[in-house]
This record gives sequence, structure tokens and C-alpha cells, in this order.
Amino acid sequence: MVQNTQRDQRRAADFVKRYNPPRIFGDFKWKHVVTVEQFERADLDILFKVATSLRRRVASHDPDVSQLARGYLMASLFFEASTRTDLSFQAAMRRLGGEVITPSGGVQFSSVYKGENLADTVRAAACYADVIALRHPERGASYEAAYYLDTLRGRITRQTVVLSGGDGIGEHPTQALLDLFTILDQKQSLDNLTITLVGDLKHGRTVHSLAKLIARFENARTRVNLVSPESLKMPREIVAYLNVRKVATIETDRLTDVIGKTDVIYWTRVQEERFENPTEYDAIADAFIMTPDLLAQAQDDAILMHPLPRKHEMGTPSDHDLLDEDTRSVYFAQMENGMFVRMALLALVLGLEV
Ligand code: NCD
Repeated sequence: MVQNTQRDQRRAADFVKRYNPPRIFGDFKWKHVVTVEQFERADLDILFKVATSLRRRVASHDPDVSQLARGYLMASLFFEASTRTDLSFQAAMRRLGGEVITPSGGVQFSSVYKGENLADTVRAAACYADVIALRHPERGASYEAAYYLDTLRGRITRQTVVLSGGDGIGEHPTQALLDLFTILDQKQSLDNLTITLVGDLKHGRTVHSLAKLIARFENARTRVNLVSPESLKMPREIVAYLNVRKVATIETDRLTDVIGKTDVIYWTRVQEERFENPTEYDAIADAFIMTPDLLAQAQDDAILMHPLPRKHEMGTPSDHDLLDEDTRSVYFAQMENGMFVRMALLALVLGLEV
């Protein structure tokens, strides 16, 4: 991870207040994607329809798919570790026939090494690429990137959009989109579903975005259980976001009260790298461990999701194997969907004819 100063952190977080991300309102073209709050339900319908169609076309090796983004470039700027988000963005762009550029030695050997700030790094990428996939350890970094990319309008020959691949402990919008796509794929609708988010709800950006996205389905009578240790509760503003939209929400640290009455179990890793104090981490590291015995308490038609990577919160490596065999575990499909949803998003923001 590239280390940044506290001043940089405050600066990035200020952009969450200062920068107003464009609402999609049915038109994705050249819109930055930094928060799920930009999406209405109708936008999700458009995105998921395209993702479903691209998934089918990729499966049938439709040769036209790899012509869609010909001539377009995506810059991949990952200031923080990633396997799935980075690879799936790259795979998505390449499967559409576009190309990917990234600093040869990773961002740590770009001019970031010389102390260049984010505003200048993203504008350098914008001079060469049409879209930037950005992951950054600071909350608000993608808002800051979007703001500075907008300052280039009219000053260089093209436009460039940023797609957030995760902003510190803030949001991870594209993950939530693929998570919701997976839930709808498995359950057809959110109507009457009980969704249980478990683990580090304080630092987990995936659950922040997913909770807000579920709240978009105000009339679906979806219930959300937020299960975490007391010290890792969901940020108050996200709980308020759910409450204002009348999503029935239960906060508890007792998983056994809710696991048997849950349709979607969304497991998360305790975000060890976000803890300032290792003893705080040690105190709760083992609070929630998914094991085959625990999954046995879930409904037969429940699904088990995880954004991955997983560590001990899914037990031992042999527990992993046993959980993987359970047909209720859908995290591999979830992962694969990540590529299709990102393909759809790239196609829509670039205005490709899909
Ligand atoms: C998540 C992330 O980076 O926030 N991973 C991902 O993008 N699939 C979850 C995590 O790291 O625990």
C-alpha cells in the first residue's frame, strides 16, 4: 500500500462534501462512478440487462463482443492491494476489445514515488486513457479524482471518467453493483428478502455500498440484519440512510438469532489493515467465523456471499473446502459476475453500442 500523510487523508475526505457526483438518470455516458448514490433503480435495470446480455455473449464466444471497445484505453491505478477488482476490471476492458495501461512497476514506481499527488497522477492517466479504474486507501479519493478530471474538460482533446474500485473505508460501488446483481440473479427480486451483513461493518467498504444500494429498493420490504461486534458496527450515517428509506434494520452481535431466518448471508473479512491498534484487532478477530457447522443452521435456500479475499473468518483451509462444496455458497459466481458487471459499466460509460 502506498502510504499517505494525514493531511492527504483529510483532503480526500473533504471531497466527499465538496464534489457532487453526477446522477446517472438513465445516461451513463462519461459519468464518473464514485458512489452507489448516483444510481436509481432504473439505472440498475439498464446496467444489469447489459451485464446479463454480455455474460451470455461471452459464454457463447460471440466474436462481436471483442470489437465493442476497440480503440479505447483503460488506465488501472491501484494504490492498494487487489486481486479481483483489479483483474476483473482489466479482464472486462480486454474482453470488450479495449486495452489496459498501468504503470510498469505498479503505482509505487510511478511518480507517486517522487511525491506526486493524486490530482496530478489521475490527470496524467487522463491524458492517455479514456477511463481510469482507481483504488485508493483514502475515503473520498475517487471524488477527488473525479473533481480533478473535470478540470481537464476543454483543456485536453478527450474526456476521461474514473470508476472507483474502492476508497479506503468509504465505498466500493462497483462491488455493490456486482453483489446486488448476484443477489437478483439468485433470488430474482429483493421482495421480502432478509439480508444479513456480517463482520467488520465499520471498515468494510463493500457493506457500506451494498447497504445503501439495498435501500434504493424502498418498497421491496427487504429486511437488513447488521451483525457485528459492538466496536465494528455499521457507521451511523448508513444506518440512518436505511432508516430514512424505511428498510427494516436490526443491529445485533448475536448471529444465532438471525442466521436461521436469512435469505442472503453476506460474510466479510475483518479489515485488519484498517486498525490503528493491533490489540483492538486481536480482541474481535475471531468474533464471527463461518464454518460448515454454522452454515448448517442456515435455511436450505439461503445463499452465502463473500466479497473475498477470505482468511480465518471462513475457518481453516479445510473449512473453506467444505463451504465451497455447499451449493449455497455463491461467492465464485459473485466473483465472475464482477467481470460482467464491470464490462457493462465500461460499455455504458464509454457509450458503446451494446
Ligand atoms: C474487498 C475490498 O477490497 O474492499 N475486496 C474486493 O474488492 N473484492 C473486501 C476485502 O478486502 O475484505
